[in-house]
Amino acid sequence: MSLLLTNIGELVTNDPAADDLLGLRHEAALVIEGDHVAWVGDAADAPAADERRDLEGRAVLPGFVDSHSHLAFAGDRAEEFRARMTGEPYTAGGIRTTVAATRAASDADLRARMARLVAEMRAQGTTTVEIKSGYGLTVDDEARSLRLARELTDETTFLGAHVVPPEYADDPAGYVALATGPMLDAAAPHARWIDAFCETGAFDADQAREVLTAGMRAGLRGRLHANQLGPGPGVRLAAELGLVAVDHCTYLTDDDVHALREAGTVATLLPGVEFSTRQPYPDARRLLDAGVQVALASDCNPGSCFTSSLPFCIAVAVRDMHLSPAQAVHAATAGGAAALDRTDVGRLVPGSRADLVVLDAPSHVHLAYRPGVPLVASVITGSRR
Ligand code: NIG
Ligand code: FE
Repeated sequence: MSLLLTNIGELVTNDPAADDLLGLRHEAALVIEGDHVAWVGDAADAPAADERRDLEGRAVLPGFVDSHSHLAFAGDRAEEFRARMTGEPYTAGGIRTTVAATRAASDADLRARMARLVAEMRAQGTTTVEIKSGYGLTVDDEARSLRLARELTDETTFLGAHVVPPEYADDPAGYVALATGPMLDAAAPHARWIDAFCETGAFDADQAREVLTAGMRAGLRGRLHANQLGPGPGVRLAAELGLVAVDHCTYLTDDDVHALREAGTVATLLPGVEFSTRQPYPDARRLLDAGVQVALASDCNPGSCFTSSLPFCIAVAVRDMHLSPAQAVHAATAGGAAALDRTDVGRLVPGSRADLVVLDAPSHVHLAYRPGVPLVASVITGSRR
C-alpha cells in the first residue's frame, strides 16, 4: 500500500547530495510504500497513491534517532536530583542506587518501564532508539536487561562496565575479568554494541580498552562514555580504537578534537545532562568547525538526565551550545544515524525508512523557538495506519 503526504510546508530530507545541511524542500510531497520512502519532490508533481494526506503546510522531518539512552532501569532518583538542584554535585556514585532497584525488579516491571519510556520518546518524535544495559552488573541482570531491551529495539548496547558494583568494590580487576568473560558471553547474543564509562570513579583508560577490545572480539561494535565529568583519556581512546561514536565529550582539549576528526568518530553531545547536572556545556561549534560529525541524544537515565525528549535537547543545544536550529536538527536525526552507523534512518530520500515526524509548525526552527511546547503532531513509520 502507498501513502502520499502532500502540501508539506517544509520537508527536511537530510539528503547528503543537497547543497544545504538539511536538504530542505518547500511545498513538497513524499510517497511512502510499505516501510520505505518511494518518492520525494514538489507537491505539484506528486504521483497518485492509494491514500493521500494533506499536511496543510506543516513541517516534516526524519524521525529523531536517539543514539544514547539507559532505559533498562527501575526506581527513580528524584531525591538525588532535588539535592543537586540545591547544591550537591553530580557523581557516578548514584548509579549504584539504580543498580539495587533494577536487580530487585521483576521482568514484567522492567519491560513495562522500558516500553513506557519508548512510547514517551515516540510521542516526541523519536523513531529509532538505542538502549544500554548497565544497571544490572551481574551476568544474569545484564543479559536480562539486554534481552528485554531487544524486544523494543535492535540497537542494544552492553554496558557492563558502567561502574564497579558494590560486591566487587575491593576487586575492580575481578569485575573487569567478569565483564570481559562470562558477562560478555551472556550479553553479546542480545547486543549490537559494547560501551564503557571511562571516567574517574568508573573505569580508567586501560580497563575501558580491555572491555572494548573484548567486546569487539566478540563481534560487537564499539562506543564509549568519555570526558563527561572532567578532562581525560577517553576521547583519545575512542579515536585510537576507531569507535563509531564517543559520547558526552563535555571536556575536550585541542588534541581530543583533532583525534576525533582524524578517526572519523562521531561526537555525541547530550545537552540534557549538562542541563540536569549544571555542568558546563561542551563547545559544539568547535567540534563542527573542526569537521567532527556531531550527534545529539537524550542520554535518558534516572540519574544525570531523565528526559526522553529530543525536541527539548534540540532547544537546549541551540540555546546553550550555540548550534543553529539546522545544525541541532541535523545532529538529532542524521547525526544520531551516523552514531549508530545507519544510513537507512535519519534522512528522507527514496529508499530510506519511512520514519517521519509531522510538526504542528511551519518549520524545524520552531523546535527551538518554541521550547517545551508539544509540537509533534504525528509520527509516521511506514504506510500502514
Ligand atoms: O550517561 N555517565 C554514565 N552514565 C549515565 C548516568 C548514569 C546515572 O547517573 O545513573 C550517563 O550520564
Ligand atoms: Fe549515558
